[in-house]
Amino acid sequence: MSSQVRHLFSLGSRLALCAAMVRPGTALADVGTDHAYLPVWLAKQGLIRSAVAADIRQGPLDRARANIARYGVSNLVSARLSDGLDQIEPREAEDLVIAGMGGLMMIHILKRAPWLKEPARRLILQPMTKAETLRKFLADEGFFIERELAAEEDGHVYSVMQVSYSPQKRRENELFYYIGKITAETAQGRKYLQLQNRRLKRRANGLSKAGNISQANHFFSLAAQIETLLSSAPA
Ligand SMILES: C[S@@+](CC[C@H](N)C(=O)[O-])C[C@H]1O[C@@H](n2cnc3c(N)ncnc32)[C@H](O)[C@@H]1O
Repeated sequence: MSSQVRHLFSLGSRLALCAAMVRPGTALADVGTDHAYLPVWLAKQGLIRSAVAADIRQGPLDRARANIARYGVSNLVSARLSDGLDQIEPREAEDLVIAGMGGLMMIHILKRAPWLKEPARRLILQPMTKAETLRKFLADEGFFIERELAAEEDGHVYSVMQVSYSPQKRRENELFYYIGKITAETAQGRKYLQLQNRRLKRRANGLSKAGNISQANHFFSLAAQIETLLSSAPA
């Protein structure tokens, strides 16, 4: 193990947005950490009290361990083999990041940790797919998206959600499941809305070709609602 401590790297805009939602001084769990860039960066900046960098696979965990040692933050960050939150104590996850995974895997992980249902805990979620299914799951389970922003990196646009448990269940309107709290106020937000608009229209066109006109019209109407949001936004 090298004793040389390297200069700190920059996080890409996707992980930087996740990092910005982590509360200073928190005990952090980064689930599906891979390289552990997020907890290492936060530890180097003095922004967290402790972190568990968790991954289900040995290869990523070895990468995480190497980076934790390379950047000299072993006193604050520990790497742990864990399927989701299975090997993580509630006290180690005041804030919890799950980034770069599919929305369905996130749901699977969240369902197995009922102790997440405490208002003081903060979940920061960045799904790669199925964000709409994740938003519906969160609403049905009493979780509330307090803040949601889009990040753009390498030509892709991602949603990052800041979530906490808020005991009354909410019924959101269907459009909410597709766009969450992302607005057209930022360039990244507009790109996210444009992406969801294209996806909804593609789905509507498929349904239309299959002869399912009423369902097609439903999705065309959701797409049109997004167009209205885009057209009333600042250029
Ligand atoms: C694409 S990487 C994301 C790395 C980092 N979080 C990021 O956003 O850049 C996804 C990681 O999640 C891990 N993973 C997948 N399913 C998991 C699970 N159930 N529990 C823990 N880690 C998991 C994979 O092994 C992989 O290292």
